[in-house]
Amino acid sequence: MLEECRMSTPAEQSGTDYVIDAENVAEMARLTRQARFMTQALGLLPTPLDLTTCQKVLDIGCGPGEWIRELAERYRGLSITGIDTSKAMIGYARYLAQEQNLGQVNFQLMDARSKLAFADNSFDLVHARFVSGFLDRQSWPLLLAESLRVLGPNGILCVTEPVGMGFTTSPAFSRYQSLLAEAWARSGRTFFAGDQWGITPLLFRLVEQAGFGRVQSAAHVLNYSHGGPAHQDIIDDWRTALVLLQPFICKTGVASQEELDLLYARAMEEMQAPDFCAVLFFQTVWGYKPA
Ligand SMILES: C[S@@+](CC[C@H](N)C(=O)[O-])C[C@H]1O[C@@H](n2cnc3c(N)ncnc32)[C@H](O)[C@@H]1O
Repeated sequence: MLEECRMSTPAEQSGTDYVIDAENVAEMARLTRQARFMTQALGLLPTPLDLTTCQKVLDIGCGPGEWIRELAERYRGLSITGIDTSKAMIGYARYLAQEQNLGQVNFQLMDARSKLAFADNSFDLVHARFVSGFLDRQSWPLLLAESLRVLGPNGILCVTEPVGMGFTTSPAFSRYQSLLAEAWARSGRTFFAGDQWGITPLLFRLVEQAGFGRVQSAAHVLNYSHGGPAHQDIIDDWRTALVLLQPFICKTGVASQEELDLLYARAMEEMQAPDFCAVLFFQTVWGYKPA
């Protein structure tokens, strides 16, 4: 597994700021599995959201398109567009949508850190899940402003992000998490000092500042302690993700490859131990474009 993941080119060669090489098939397989269990755990959308008047949906950083295909299956009347910078993700997403006869779905190569190639008022719902891996301090407000522009009046923006890497009883995993937080900070992605990476405390305010009204939020907790139903899925996800993140961490100079290799081996062992306990948290924030 380690060697297959490492056959990837460094993330920066794909021309995005994503912390993992999204052209690597190991990432595509990981995101496909991850999207399935995350949608199962978090739901497609927050329950208070009413899609009855929605016709057009945009999914930003859609990856292999799992979320979109599931939405399309559930709401046959929706027209859904997914954008992503990875050719591999978009190609695979198009192939699966065609195979499933989802004619109302389309996927486009597009960089969500720039002005979006859509006219004003094009969508009724803009959705973005787990996109902080390619956004820095400057690009978050730009993306939210673009989401407001492409939404029609009363259109909904819905963003879901993890609260860092959660909390576990594994010392090696915690150390990995600190190194990643440091790498995150050194690459201009962190909004505040501390040991946690991510957008958690700011997301609500950024959405309000972008001009959205009736902003609301919801929290989710996912327990993946040993013996529980989510344990193996999440461990499998980390098994790949922690390797795929190594070029990014090393490039920032936070840790050497040797240090990461040792930590990785220890973390994997500790996370398989019968007394391993862990939780992941997620925050969803949504708001409406003023009419
Ligand atoms: C963690 S994945 C999220 C996948 C999906 N949203 C989900 O919830 O299953 C992040 C995705 O963002 C894409 N990405 C990276 N840089 C991007 C950019 N600048 N613009 C749009 N998408 C980008 C990656 O290729 C990857 O598919």
